[in-house]
Amino acid sequence: MRRKLVVGNWKMHGSLAANAALLQALASKPEQGAEMAVCVPFPYLQQAQAVLRNSAVAWGAQDVSEHAQGAYTGEVSAAMLGDFDCLYVVVGHSERRSLYGERDEQSAAKVAAALAGGLVPILCVGETLAEREAGSTEAVVSRQLDVVLRHCGVEALSKAVLAYEPVWAIGTGRTATPGQAQQVHAFLRHRVASADADVARGLRILYGGSVKAANAGELFAQPDIDGGLVGGASLVADEFLAIAGAA
Ligand code: 13P
Repeated sequence: MRRKLVVGNWKMHGSLAANAALLQALASKPEQGAEMAVCVPFPYLQQAQAVLRNSAVAWGAQDVSEHAQGAYTGEVSAAMLGDFDCLYVVVGHSERRSLYGERDEQSAAKVAAALAGGLVPILCVGETLAEREAGSTEAVVSRQLDVVLRHCGVEALSKAVLAYEPVWAIGTGRTATPGQAQQVHAFLRHRVASADADVARGLRILYGGSVKAANAGELFAQPDIDGGLVGGASLVADEFLAIAGAA
């Protein structure tokens, strides 16, 4: 049985003052059915660690270098994230891919670096609206997933989380219907199963894209949706807690 997981991706939002209230509200929530985590901007990792330590909420980062160390100005290694007791790191988010030119191979190398550093990568895949309308959703997510399978091996996914985030649903208020999301989640699980059925059965596949308290319940009720990767709604404590409550 896969335990549901709800992860907040704060993106480039927050301040020490605003985070304090948000993190405190999350930390004071008793453990519930679903596992919870927040992926915060790098400068706030220490704050998240200080407030969330001994709480039911884990923390992590939104990106990681594919390199272990060296002359890579501006980059942050998996070991550095480990210094702040990060559990999770988001890898290959569509904003990294589209705005910063991250390539499939680079995302795969980041998954490997995260795993080598003892972190749990949350690998994001998803198609743009043009790709969906062209009928290439499955081709796009397969391409993004297969690079990781080739580079890291299917066993890597037994220590990772997959997230399906249709680009057209991110920050747009336009959520995939539960049926649309389930279809892609089932497709992804099937694709992993063709490499290793046990890994596929245990793999948590999160949905991301305009998840809110109002739509979380029906999304998370789908058989292959194991929780959510939540952007905007994770910045509001009550809303994020309600989403976790729906899981
Ligand atoms: P929104 O929930 O704001 O649509 O963002 C989704 C996302 O990109 C999470 O990683």
